[in-house]
Amino acid sequence: MKSFSMQGAKILATGSAVPTSCFHNHDISKIVQTSDQWIVTRTGIRERRLLTGIDKSIITLAVTASINALNKVSMDASQIDLIILATSTPNDLFGSASQVQSKIGAINAVAFDLTAACSGFVLGIVTASQFIQNGSYRNVLVVGADSLSKWIDWSDRSTCILFGDAAGAVIIQACSEADNSILDFQLNTDGNYSSCLSISYQEEIRPHPILNLYQGSFKYIAMNGKEVYKFAVSQVPLSILKCINSLNLSINDIDWLLLHQANERILMAVAEKLSISSDKIISNLSKYGNTSAASIPLALDEALQQNKIAHNDIIVISGFGAGLTWGTVVVQWK
Ligand code: UT7
Repeated sequence: MKSFSMQGAKILATGSAVPTSCFHNHDISKIVQTSDQWIVTRTGIRERRLLTGIDKSIITLAVTASINALNKVSMDASQIDLIILATSTPNDLFGSASQVQSKIGAINAVAFDLTAACSGFVLGIVTASQFIQNGSYRNVLVVGADSLSKWIDWSDRSTCILFGDAAGAVIIQACSEADNSILDFQLNTDGNYSSCLSISYQEEIRPHPILNLYQGSFKYIAMNGKEVYKFAVSQVPLSILKCINSLNLSINDIDWLLLHQANERILMAVAEKLSISSDKIISNLSKYGNTSAASIPLALDEALQQNKIAHNDIIVISGFGAGLTWGTVVVQWK
């Protein structure tokens, strides 16, 4: 296997959090013209959790998920050196990671946001592993948290059926090179397709009368579902193949396929293209919908709680989404 590190990095603990308010497809069919049958057939989603009520944001979810992960290994938050918050729905455009740092008491950690939509968590793990493998930091908390419910046009049935709110967290820790479990990664962006999935900033029609400055605000999420679907099904298998080939692994070596939980049909199509048995797919999107940067750590945490993943299992993790950005990270569970 390829080795590019001086120091190993391994996932020490996971945690997750979802809002308590649960909305079934039947609830969504009361606000837009859709049906449980259409949503289940086209997406596999049955229900999703949404942050209802006032003053609720990704911070609450990110903090709960982080504390959950810390508690699993009885680690004090002061031991964390770096916090990477992967989110595209911050409650402060200057960054929300510092609020997580403060609320969990990670007094020794530097914290920053990473914006890469549904690929944010994969980019977060890769970024964290670089800081660890080059010896800069020992304990890194990577959180994927999104609340796309705040950015959806709830009268648009083509998007509002898909998304849910959640957070997932992992603690990545330095280890010996022999114990390294983040084996390799492969990342891509094609900005030519950025308009296929965006929450874009729109300037007002009239500029400031003296300064000629245009100000504006963000619009609702806009998506070309068919294009995103085609992109995911064509590019994600290629990314996985590149990554496992560079590690001299074969398809048969893959124990678990953990994809961004966007659509059950995408999960099945990617597995089929790679001839990976469907019982190796980790999927929980029927309960949570597409939770963007949170979907992978949420599913990983659940799979671990269900004791699905065994020591030394190879997990192929792929994220894909707005950017368009996609990528794969191969983890050997230790
Ligand atoms: O994190 C990455 C984020 N995004 C994705 O992964 C999205 C990837 N794309 C998809 O998952 C699928 O494209 C969707 C689930 C979004 C849509 O499924 P589709 O099979 O591509 O449906 P479509 O957009 O082609 O629409 C088929 C029909 C249309 O009606 P006509 O034109 O055939 O009469 C739509 O108007 O279904 C209609 N439709 C709906 N009907 C009932 C679209 N949305 C709905 C709906 N309920 N919610």
